[in-house]
Amino acid sequence: MLVFSVSDKGGTGRSVTSTNVAYRAALLGFNTVYLDFDFGSPTVGAIFEVEHARTGVSQRGLHDYLYGVTENPVIIDVWAESNRETLVRPLGARRLELMPGSLGGSEFLEMTDEIVDRCAELFKKAHEQFELCVVDLSAGRSAAMELVLKACKHKKARDLTRRWLVFHRWTRQHVIAAGNLVHGDNGLIKYGVNCDYGEEEMEEMISYVRTAVIDPAGESARILNSAQQSWLDAVDKELESLASTAGLGRDVRFGTVPLDPVLQWREQLLTDRDAHTTRVANPATVDAFKDLADRLCAPIRAERLRR
Ligand SMILES: Nc1ncnc2c1ncn2[C@@H]1O[C@H](COP(=O)(O)OP(=O)(O)OP(=O)(O)O)[C@@H](O)[C@H]1O
Ligand SMILES: [Mg+2]
Repeated sequence: MLVFSVSDKGGTGRSVTSTNVAYRAALLGFNTVYLDFDFGSPTVGAIFEVEHARTGVSQRGLHDYLYGVTENPVIIDVWAESNRETLVRPLGARRLELMPGSLGGSEFLEMTDEIVDRCAELFKKAHEQFELCVVDLSAGRSAAMELVLKACKHKKARDLTRRWLVFHRWTRQHVIAAGNLVHGDNGLIKYGVNCDYGEEEMEEMISYVRTAVIDPAGESARILNSAQQSWLDAVDKELESLASTAGLGRDVRFGTVPLDPVLQWREQLLTDRDAHTTRVANPATVDAFKDLADRLCAPIRAERLRR
C-alpha cells in the first residue's frame, strides 16, 4: 500500500508522525519503506538518525533517480544504518528502509513525462517489495503532489492500493489550511479530478491526522489552572466545529497524536524504551503511533489472510 503524507502548512508534524508510524508498522511485522518526497527539504534521514543521509545523499538520491541520473536509487536499511544505538531490530520486526532525497535537491520546476514515468516505476517496484510505502510529500500544493497524482494514473501504477493522510496541527490556521488543501481551488480533490480521478474516489482515499494535540480532559492538561482548563475546553469545542465545517470533522479523522515534550524539542522515533524505561516520552504518544500503524496496516493484514 502507498500512503501519501501531506500537509498544507510546513511544520505540522507530518514527518515526525509518518516516520514513527513507519517504525511502528515495521515493529508490527510489515515490510516498510519510507520515501522522502519533500523535494525542497529532504531531511527525514535526521529523524531516523542516519547521519550520512541527514539532508539527503550526495549520489543516487531520489532527485537523481527522478531526473534519470541513476536507475538505482539509494535504499538505506534503517535498522542497520541508524546511528541511534537503541534502535535495534527486535525479533519479529520486518524491514524498515529509507529512500532519501539528494543532497542539495530542490523542488521540480518542470514536470516532464519522463519524471512521471520514473516515479510510476518507483512506486510499482516499492509496492512489489514492501507492504507499506510511506511517501512524505513537500508541504502545500507542491510539485510533489502533482507528480504522485500523475504517477498513480500511469499504467504502471494505477492498480496500486493507496491512501492519503493529511496532517494538521489543532489550531484555527491549520484546520482552515488543511481543509483548503483538500477542498479548495487547486486543492487535492480538484487537482485529482483534473488528473482523471473521480471526486468520490479522491474523497474516499483521504483522511486526517491531528498532531501535537493537548486533550483538555487528559493528563497533560492537569497542570493548567481552572481558568485555563475551561478556556481550553471552549477552544477545543470551537475547533471541532470549525473542523467539521472545513470538511475534516470526526468522521474523516484518522487519528490524533498528543503533544509530547520529547518531540517538541527533538524530532525522533519514540521507542518503547523512551516511554517505559527512561520514561522521557509519554506512553500515550507511543500508543497513538501504534494505533495509527495498526489501523493503516489493517487492509494489508486482511490481504495476507486472503492469500
Ligand atoms: N506530537 C508532537 N508533539 C510535540 N511536538 C511535535 C510533535 N510532532 C511534531 N512536533 C514538532 O513539530 C515540528 C514540526 O514537525 P515535522 O518536522 O514533523 O513537521 P513537517 O510537517 O514534516 O514539517 P516540514 O514541512 O518542515 O517538513 C518538529 O520540530 C517537532 O519538534
Ligand atoms: Mg517534514
